[in-house]
Amino acid sequence: MTQANAQSGTSPALGWTAAPIRTLPAYRGPTTFADFPDPATRPRLIHLNESPYPPSPRVAEAVLAATHDLNRYPDIYGRELCSRIGDATGIPAGRIVLGCGSDELIHFTAVIALSAGDEAVIPAPSFPRYALSARLGGAVVRRVKLDAGGACDPGTILDAIGPRTRLVVCCTPNPPSGGMMTAEALAAVAKGVPDDVLLLVDEAYCEFGRHAGGPDTLAILRKRKGPWLSTRTFSKAYACAALRVGYALCGSDDVAEALRRAKLQFNVPTLSQVGAAAAFDDQAYLRTMLDRIAGERDRLSKGLAQLGLRVLPTAANFVSCALPGPAAPAMAALERQGIFVRDWRDPEHLSELRIGVGTPDDTGATLAALGGYLRGET
Ligand SMILES: Cc1ncc(COP(=O)(O)O)c(C=O)c1O
Repeated sequence: MTQANAQSGTSPALGWTAAPIRTLPAYRGPTTFADFPDPATRPRLIHLNESPYPPSPRVAEAVLAATHDLNRYPDIYGRELCSRIGDATGIPAGRIVLGCGSDELIHFTAVIALSAGDEAVIPAPSFPRYALSARLGGAVVRRVKLDAGGACDPGTILDAIGPRTRLVVCCTPNPPSGGMMTAEALAAVAKGVPDDVLLLVDEAYCEFGRHAGGPDTLAILRKRKGPWLSTRTFSKAYACAALRVGYALCGSDDVAEALRRAKLQFNVPTLSQVGAAAAFDDQAYLRTMLDRIAGERDRLSKGLAQLGLRVLPTAANFVSCALPGPAAPAMAALERQGIFVRDWRDPEHLSELRIGVGTPDDTGATLAALGGYLRGET
């Protein structure tokens, strides 16, 4: 299928597909750098929560130095990388599973937990993958509201659990809102989810969360008796989105074993494993980036407040605000000026806009463009 066909949402008859495929929304991939091959004409792409900065210089050095043995399959277990992550987190390397991004691990978490007709309790609005993967397996999605601060809410989550629930998902900090669960909230979920139900805590933005003073989530999750896993990624704070490396920290051997049985075998290329390990080794660079992005996030939040907008508290590398009217036309107006941001794509939240933290120049341009839109100039 051509890129144009894929983006228009037109599709050939899907009568031959498994039933869940026909119930899913038409695929529309997000705009990426690949859509603008000429760097001179690149717009400001601050809609995917990527880092605006390159990764540690050690990443490219390590990748270039690892181009021998390209004729061989990668290490299925990613032992080098997992042992580093294991040392840093205290989770045994055998309970760490690598994925082609954490996206893949989230998908296979739904696969290992859910059979057709089972229920998954999923926060909304949040990362769309949870609901898509659950529905793909024929499971029923129970959407639960966030709390007033845009964080996953133990009250609504635990209330939604029923006899058919096999998977409960939390995300902290949560996109698109940015809210982060407190230690007490996460502990309530870890304790309250029944022992025979899998708890997935998506921590794609955990480095930002810890930097913002968030709780030690693993210390809390370790106290849980039932099965759990935390998924994390090199795509965000480590600025390695192109490498596609995520990892699951599993609370027990059986969760890791189930994920390994389900996931694709050689899913993380050698060069990606090596690059991610180099990024992980350079914690000083990570800290510098976290400081820089947190500073810019505060400047963006203040600027949005100065435009008279309600700004949501955020512990991640994006900021959401509520506009006086619908967000979709604001998003389109900014796009016409070469600034890509996101509305929340949620029928219950039509006026919220999510803006990724970019460079200081991106912040200035975004605030100017949004200010112009709000004054009716564009
Ligand atoms: C909450 C959340 N989880 C998971 C992912 C998947 O990221 P990746 O597959 O790049 O690790 C994203 C990506 O934006 C995300 O926002």
